[in-house]
Amino acid sequence: MKILILPGDGIGPEITEVTTAALEALDSRFGLGLELVRRDVGLAAIKAVGHPMPDDVMAEIEKTPLTVLGPAGSMEYPPEARTLPSPSMAIRGAFDLYANIRPSRTRPGIPSVAKEMDLVIVRENTEGFYAARLMHEGRGEFMPTPEMAMSLRKITVEGSRRIARAAFELARTRRRKVTVVHKANVFRMTDGLFLSEVRSVAEDYADIEFDDVIVDAMAARLIRHPETFDVVVTTNMFGDILSDEAAELAGGLGLGGSINASDERAVAQAAHGSAPDIAGQDKANPTAHLISTQMLLQWTAIQGGDNQLAAAAQHMEAALDDVLADPANHTPDLGGGTGTRAFGEALARAIAE
Ligand code: NAI
Ligand code: MG
Repeated sequence: MKILILPGDGIGPEITEVTTAALEALDSRFGLGLELVRRDVGLAAIKAVGHPMPDDVMAEIEKTPLTVLGPAGSMEYPPEARTLPSPSMAIRGAFDLYANIRPSRTRPGIPSVAKEMDLVIVRENTEGFYAARLMHEGRGEFMPTPEMAMSLRKITVEGSRRIARAAFELARTRRRKVTVVHKANVFRMTDGLFLSEVRSVAEDYADIEFDDVIVDAMAARLIRHPETFDVVVTTNMFGDILSDEAAELAGGLGLGGSINASDERAVAQAAHGSAPDIAGQDKANPTAHLISTQMLLQWTAIQGGDNQLAAAAQHMEAALDDVLADPANHTPDLGGGTGTRAFGEALARAIAE
C-alpha cells in the first residue's frame, strides 16, 4: 500500500519525519506492506519548479489513495507564487474534499483549559467565504477601487446537505448528537439556507439528537461547556475558527488532527499551519500530524473493510495516547521540555512494544 508523503513548509518536514518513523514502526509490527513515497510541495517545489503544487505530484496523488499533507506556509511564499493555489487549496479543490473532520478531546496527562471534552467539528470545506474555493473561473474576492475590497460567500443546497449527512453519519458512530452552528439571524439567505438544509437532513436521522447554536454564542459555550457537544457541523470559516478554539481548549493547536474527505478519498492534514516561529528548532509537536495520519488509516480501513489496517490504526492511537499520558514526553507547547525528535523516538518505541 503506497502512501504519498508531502512534508510542506515550516515545521512540516520535522513533524513528517516523526510520522514517517511511526508508520515504519507500524508497518514492521502489522506487516502492512507500506511503501512511503516522499514528494516536495510548497516552498521546496517553488524553488525547484516554480509552483507550490507541481502537476506531476498532483497526478501522483490522483493515483495514490493515501496522502499525508504537511502545512502550507503560503504567507511566506514569494509574491509571484502567492496567487497560485497552495497545496491544500489545490488538493481540496481537485478532489472535492468537502468534509474537513476535526476532532478535539481532553486526554489523560495533557494540561487543558477544558475539564472534559470529546467533540468533532465537521467543517464544510469547499464553499463559504474561502475565495479560492468558490469559483469555476476568477476569484471570490475583488477590489472595485484601491480603497475598497469585497468578498463573496457561497452556500449551496447540495453543499449543505452533503456536509450535514457526513455529520449525522459520524454521530451514529459516536454519542448521537449533532449541533449545527450558524448565523442565520443576520445572514438570512446564506446561513438561512445552510440551516434549513441541515434541519431537513436531520429529519432522516430521528435517532440523532439535534440542536442549533448561533456562532457567537457557540464561541462562548465552547469555553464554558465543551462537554455538551458531540458532533458540530458548520460552514467553512466558522469551522476553521471554532476548530482552532476547540484544539486549544483540549491542550493546544499541536494536538489538532484533521482529515479532508470526499466519499471516495481522504487526505490527512493537521489543522495548524506551518508555525514559522518555531520551525527548524526541534520544538514542534508532531501529534496533530500523527492524529491526522491515524485518522486517514482508520478512514481507509473502514472504506475498504480492511481489518488489519483497522487494528494498526487502533494500535497507533493507543500508542500515541500512552506517550502523551507521560509529561516526560511533552513538547514545549504542552509545557514540557522534550523535542520533536525525542517525542518521535518514544512513539516509535511505544508502537513497537
Ligand atoms: P500556525 O497554526 O502555523 O501557528 C499558530 C501558533 O501555534 C504559533 O505560535 C505556532 O508556533 C503554534 N503551533 C502551530 N502548530 C504547532 C505545533 N504542531 N506544535 C507546536 N506549536 C504549534 O498559524 P499561523 O502562524 O497563523 O500561520 C503560519 C502559516 O501557516 C501561514 O503562512 C498560514 O497561511 C499557514 N497556514 C496553513 C494552514 C494549512 O496548510 N492547513 C492552516 C493554517 C495556517
Ligand atoms: Mg485554520
